[in-house]
Amino acid sequence: MQDIAELEGELLSPVAAAGDLEALEAARIAALGKKGRLTLLMKGLGALDAEERKNVASALNGLKDRLGAALLDRRQALEAVALERSLEAERIDITLPARPESSGRIHPVSQVMDEIAEIFGAMGFTIAEGPDIEDDFHNFTALNMPPEHPARQMQDTFYLRPRPDGSRKLLRTHTSPVQIRTMESRPPPYRIIAPGRTFRVDSDQTHTPMFHQVEGLVIDRGIHMGHLKGVLEAFARAFFEVEAVKMRFRPSYFPFTEPSAEVDIGCLRQGGELRIGEGQDWLEILGCGMVHPRVLRHVGLDPEEWQGFAFGMGIDRIAMLKYGIPDLRDFFEADLRWLRHYGFAAFDVPGLSGGLSR
Ligand code: PHE
Repeated sequence: MQDIAELEGELLSPVAAAGDLEALEAARIAALGKKGRLTLLMKGLGALDAEERKNVASALNGLKDRLGAALLDRRQALEAVALERSLEAERIDITLPARPESSGRIHPVSQVMDEIAEIFGAMGFTIAEGPDIEDDFHNFTALNMPPEHPARQMQDTFYLRPRPDGSRKLLRTHTSPVQIRTMESRPPPYRIIAPGRTFRVDSDQTHTPMFHQVEGLVIDRGIHMGHLKGVLEAFARAFFEVEAVKMRFRPSYFPFTEPSAEVDIGCLRQGGELRIGEGQDWLEILGCGMVHPRVLRHVGLDPEEWQGFAFGMGIDRIAMLKYGIPDLRDFFEADLRWLRHYGFAAFDVPGLSGGLSR
């Protein structure tokens, strides 16, 4: 019989030399497979006489143990190398943007709309929508502005071409028609906000022909002006992320609310910068009031039973205030330099728990 030490060398060297798991498996089969050299030698033990069998068996068993240990060692080493290699090959640089296009920015108006939805959502409001192209009834008549009503001139309206029946669609001048559409669509109570585009023939440093508003509407039993003030103050504190916001309620007039008020936010304009909550200046951010009984009757609600408040807030205005953006017109210039400066990263998703603007 072959010298055990020599055999051991012949069986172990391919194990040590195996460059991958396949070669290692071949070395294992050559020694320990059905027709492996060690297997065959073990099988041959029966032909030996008792004394010799004992010696050879213990030598072969010792070899088998060492071979097993060598196979295991080599397997672990090869697996570690394979793992290392695939980790290296599949490495992801998590400091890179997830996708190249995420170097784009979220427009401040979109960001602020998300913030508004987050804040009112936490107060139990849901989001309602209406069309940008409205009819006269929803934009005016149902809001207590019958034809020839002088208040229609308060809002310089973009009209579409007259239709054969003489009626003209228009670009909604405010989000208030969504109040009507909401109340037409289902029974009270209501607690909605309606953000969206609005249009007026107007253009200067603080007015653009297209701008954004968010309407608020709460109708229930026993709603009063105190609820309106409370909601708006809670909103302003959450939105501007301050303990107290300088706010001013001025008596005003809207045909669809009675009483009506306009709300200003205290601000400071200095060297092209705009700061919120300090200073002697005021910026008007919203109109509001208790929904007029005539509006409620227009949608079939009994004003003796149902009351509530509404407000319409300028989204662009409060975005300017919060983020210190001096000129409204720049919002709609599509200037990439402006957007890179004032825009938000795609992952800056507003949430109340982490602080809205972080
Ligand atoms: N729709 C009014 C405007 O655009 C704002 C407003 C909304 C006022 C709701 C009162 C109630 O000026």
